[in-house]
Amino acid sequence: MDKLVIRGGKTLSGSLRVSGSKNTALPLMAAALLTDGPVTLSNVPDLRDINTFGRVIAVTGTSVDIDAQNHRVTIDASAFEKAEAPYELVKRMRASFYMLGALLGRVGKARVSLPGGCAWGPRPVDLHIKGMEALGAQIDLDQGYVVAKAEGGRLRGGRVVLEPSSVGATINIALAAALASGESVIENAAIEPDVVVFCEMLQQMGAVLDGVGTRTLGIQGVDSLSPVDFTNCPDRIELGTFMIAAALSGAPGKPVSITHGNPDHLGAAFMEAFTRTGAQVDITDDILTVTPPAELRPVSIKTDIYPGFPTDLQAQWTVLLSRASGNSKVHESVYPDRFKHIPELQRMGVNAIIVGDEVVIEGGKSIQGTNVMSTDLRASVSLVLAGMIADGETHVLRVYHLDRGYEHIEKKLSAAGIDVTRVRYDEWADPA
Ligand code: EPZ
Repeated sequence: MDKLVIRGGKTLSGSLRVSGSKNTALPLMAAALLTDGPVTLSNVPDLRDINTFGRVIAVTGTSVDIDAQNHRVTIDASAFEKAEAPYELVKRMRASFYMLGALLGRVGKARVSLPGGCAWGPRPVDLHIKGMEALGAQIDLDQGYVVAKAEGGRLRGGRVVLEPSSVGATINIALAAALASGESVIENAAIEPDVVVFCEMLQQMGAVLDGVGTRTLGIQGVDSLSPVDFTNCPDRIELGTFMIAAALSGAPGKPVSITHGNPDHLGAAFMEAFTRTGAQVDITDDILTVTPPAELRPVSIKTDIYPGFPTDLQAQWTVLLSRASGNSKVHESVYPDRFKHIPELQRMGVNAIIVGDEVVIEGGKSIQGTNVMSTDLRASVSLVLAGMIADGETHVLRVYHLDRGYEHIEKKLSAAGIDVTRVRYDEWADPA
């Protein structure tokens, strides 16, 4: 296994480049199953999750060509033959459940493994299933698999209300509805940029949608969709993570540039909270600069759906708050138990206490490097950030979680002055 070894206290300077969005690329790949002929996606990040999903799609007989070096993926479903997503692959990545909508849309049937829980707690898929039923699918459970069938081989369309609003359910239902025989309406649809960009690709393929980017998404099913070349958007969570890294580890008064991101995709709440810390943000074209203040102010936040503060930046924000000049709180309203990073941060000396769905953080304490364990993607990156400001060495174990969602992070950070190296280790070796 790999770990990252970070020698803390180095100054972040120069520039960091944002890669393509993981959480947008995955539904774009799923959309390619809705047509015959090559769909080419560019600005796709070189990440483990992209490879995993490529393998999930390939099980159907679809050809998937991942050109990691050029960040391009070409998917051609002309030879599609099997409407299945097996447990062995779905268990590695929950987003594989997008196959339910894509397969039902394409051939009116699907056999897709249920994804199960995730590292920080339950993540239900009831709304996905309710949505498919509303569109006319008959759903059965068979040995851990969802077996779905549309009468006559084609969904008819229907109306579904999402409560709560869900990124994944909105995408899955839209995948299924695009080729249905009638009209569908998703009420309380997600409006995260990932969903909007995905809808834009469907429209380019010939899907008939209205209300894209609003809470009521209408989908008029069509008989066929066409292959397209489509450019994925930048990763908004990587952008936010880099902004936090710059505020934490940059030199006060010295700007750090972050290139190729899209700040509009971060939502107003994050941008507002970020500037309230005293960090200065300047934006020109696709370059965002962060100028760290001499002292970070404590800014409490509550996570929420877009344009609220993203839950995927909550763990990183906690590290920022541990450096602030006072105490503050993080309230997690999307996933009330997403706090697996807290015990690891506590081992580094962060004084943070979980109270229900909130974390109370004491600012201004020094942090010490030690061995810490990654448990999920965003928890892992929060440990990397903590390592960057800790005294001494931090070893972030099990970085395969990080590799799911941050493209070549140690290369990007070390080119910007951070002392970080990737090292192979034996998880089960006895202490020397
Ligand atoms: C997406 O997950 C992202 N994953 C997550 O990012 C992100 O944390 C999340 O959206 C919220 O922004 C991908 O895009 C691949 P949801 P998703 O359905 O779609 C409840 C990362 O770190 N819900 O919008 O699964 C759910 O419990 C990952 O990159 C139901 O109750 O999230 C949550 O409270 C982690 N029933 C809320 O909706 C359902 O059937 C929002 O979740 C579905 C969801």
